[in-house]
Amino acid sequence: MTTATASPYRSTDSPYQSYVYAYPHKTAYRPLADRPALRDLWAGEPQQALSLYVHIPFCEVRCGFCNLFTRIGSPEGLTTAYLDALERQASAVRAALDGQARFALAAFGGGTPTYLTAAELERLCDLTEAHTGADLRAIPLSVEASPDTATADRLAVLADRGTTRLSLGVQSFLDDEARSAVRPQKRAAVEAALGRIRAAGFPVLNIDLIYGIDGQTERTWLASLDAALAWQPEELYLYPLYVRPLTGLGRRAADGPTPAWDAQRLALYRAGRDHLLAHGYQQVSMRMFRRSGAPTASAGEYACQTDGMIGLGCGARSYTSRLHYSFDYAVDAREVRGIIDGYVAATDFARAEVGRAMDADEARRRHLMQSLLQAEGLELDGYRARFGSLPGDDFAAELARFEALGWLAEVPGRLVLSAEGLAHSDAVGPALFSPAVRAAMAEYEQK
Ligand SMILES: C[S@@+](CC[C@H](N)C(=O)[O-])C[C@H]1O[C@@H](n2cnc3c(N)ncnc32)[C@H](O)[C@@H]1O
Ligand code: SF4
Repeated sequence: MTTATASPYRSTDSPYQSYVYAYPHKTAYRPLADRPALRDLWAGEPQQALSLYVHIPFCEVRCGFCNLFTRIGSPEGLTTAYLDALERQASAVRAALDGQARFALAAFGGGTPTYLTAAELERLCDLTEAHTGADLRAIPLSVEASPDTATADRLAVLADRGTTRLSLGVQSFLDDEARSAVRPQKRAAVEAALGRIRAAGFPVLNIDLIYGIDGQTERTWLASLDAALAWQPEELYLYPLYVRPLTGLGRRAADGPTPAWDAQRLALYRAGRDHLLAHGYQQVSMRMFRRSGAPTASAGEYACQTDGMIGLGCGARSYTSRLHYSFDYAVDAREVRGIIDGYVAATDFARAEVGRAMDADEARRRHLMQSLLQAEGLELDGYRARFGSLPGDDFAAELARFEALGWLAEVPGRLVLSAEGLAHSDAVGPALFSPAVRAAMAEYEQK
């Protein structure tokens, strides 16, 4: 059984601690001294419903808020060299899997996958299929794009190769707000891109928007939402703005979240949520909304709890039940370039280099976080079947604290966040981090 540990979260703390899209966070990974062989790591793992993620770490610009693993532009030949390296890595990974391994889900993310030309995207699909064995036309495939790179020729390739979900980063439909977030973008270009995406006929269009931008008001936020709603997107992701170290905005604003900024984000979150609920959308998680009746072409915000993930490309994570691993990670432009250069020069992809071991306690925490942060919450029988205990046994102190804060709802057979709990998802998740993960993240030196 897991020992419940007190979380440092107090009700007076910021609701915006961190976005827990994966646990443990990559900043808790460390170089693996023994560089375990992938073949050993995957032996005996369930491989009938794997997820595949391919990371494309290139963008035309570096947005002021963005701390994703990506670089601006690519010197002559770098994208070709990157695709060559992806091919080598995909073959090495495939050789470590069972002959029977099957992929159930795929995604190309970044950075900006559509930074690649149409011909390069064709090659990306070819090499993915040939070297991993994934049949991209037979499984949900999600691809991220930015407005200027969502050109008709690239979209045609992606549609032809079976993309079921095209996710467009918009952030704001207002030119002033895009400028304030240091994202050089014009509304006319966004609208034109949305027209091309709808014409290409993807089953699911997702639009990413950000709230909490300097100067943004409830009126301008709702104006952005209405501009998005005009396209009737099947999905909308509403991201609270985070300003991270080493990003363009982070270099300017040294101080962390202020009470006024937190209040702005919470108010805009509530206004946005209510607006979407009133317009026929259902809330899937704090960030994700899905149009009622729309097809689901992705696994939602979190992949399945128990099946493994294969990440290809630098910056991509892979998960087995015992180890989460990846390549080195950075935000600073020079560090990112160095890591990408190292990746394209690498010839040995048969070993895991950086990662973090998972034990029974971490698996319980991960299961709890990934379920509780969904609007539908955690199914108690499923948790008991997997771990032989209940979350109330394993996380008594944390759950009592959430209860006292009014963050839990009463739903028979499930552990579910209340509306306020969901609004505080970015505080709920971090409160469930293990002391060891918290310490590793605190020790991590930003680079
Ligand atoms: C890989 S990008 C999407 C595709 C493409 N690169 C683009 O920007 O158009 C993923 C999304 O994460 C969100 N995001 C990234 N950094 C963020 C931050 N610091 N705060 C809030 N949202 C952020 C943005 O909404 C962004 O669209
Ligand atoms: S938000 Fe998108 S386009 Fe901007 S730097 Fe990040 S990944 Fe690139």
